[in-house]
Amino acid sequence: MQFDFKEMSPPERYKLLLATVLPRPIAWITTRDARGAINAAPFSFFNVFGNDPATVGVGIGSKGPREPKDTRANIRANEQFVVNLVPFSLAQEMRITSIAFPRASKRQRRPGSIWHRPNGLKSPALRKRRFRWNAR
Ligand SMILES: Cc1cc2nc3c(=O)[nH]c(=O)nc-3n(C[C@H](O)[C@H](O)[C@H](O)COP(=O)(O)O)c2cc1C
Repeated sequence: MQFDFKEMSPPERYKLLLATVLPRPIAWITTRDARGAINAAPFSFFNVFGNDPATVGVGIGSKGPREPKDTRANIRANEQFVVNLVPFSLAQEMRITSIAFPRASKRQRRPGSIWHRPNGLKSPALRKRRFRWNAR
């Protein structure tokens, strides 16, 4: 079967691309906005791309024209984020953080005891983690 991307809508391309690379682990990325509010959201378009320098790439979309998702805006603003690999036991909590809450309500997204704040990091990290990257 062949697909012509030029003939497909962006949502159709998205579904097709999602289905071609499986399984994909989920990066649960935490950031802080300029006022210090914590943000957490899941991203499956991510991977490592090199070791010298250590390079992590994440495909973060937009909410609309000229409106980046909050994770991207926060990373641009303070150049720090934490990538937590999500254990299956926290799948439900992870999914809830994919909801596009308005920016002003982000504090409601601050999850309770599953997060902690390691020394020297602006963004919180998962307590129950298999692995995490602290990116600066
Ligand atoms: C399992 C899962 C994987 C996701 N992967 C991505 C992704 O790779 N890129 C993306 O832009 N959005 C992805 N999303 C959607 C974002 O999590 C969602 O748009 C979220 O509201 C972004 O939050 P933010 O505005 O706080 O950054 C994914 C959602 C789920 C549930």
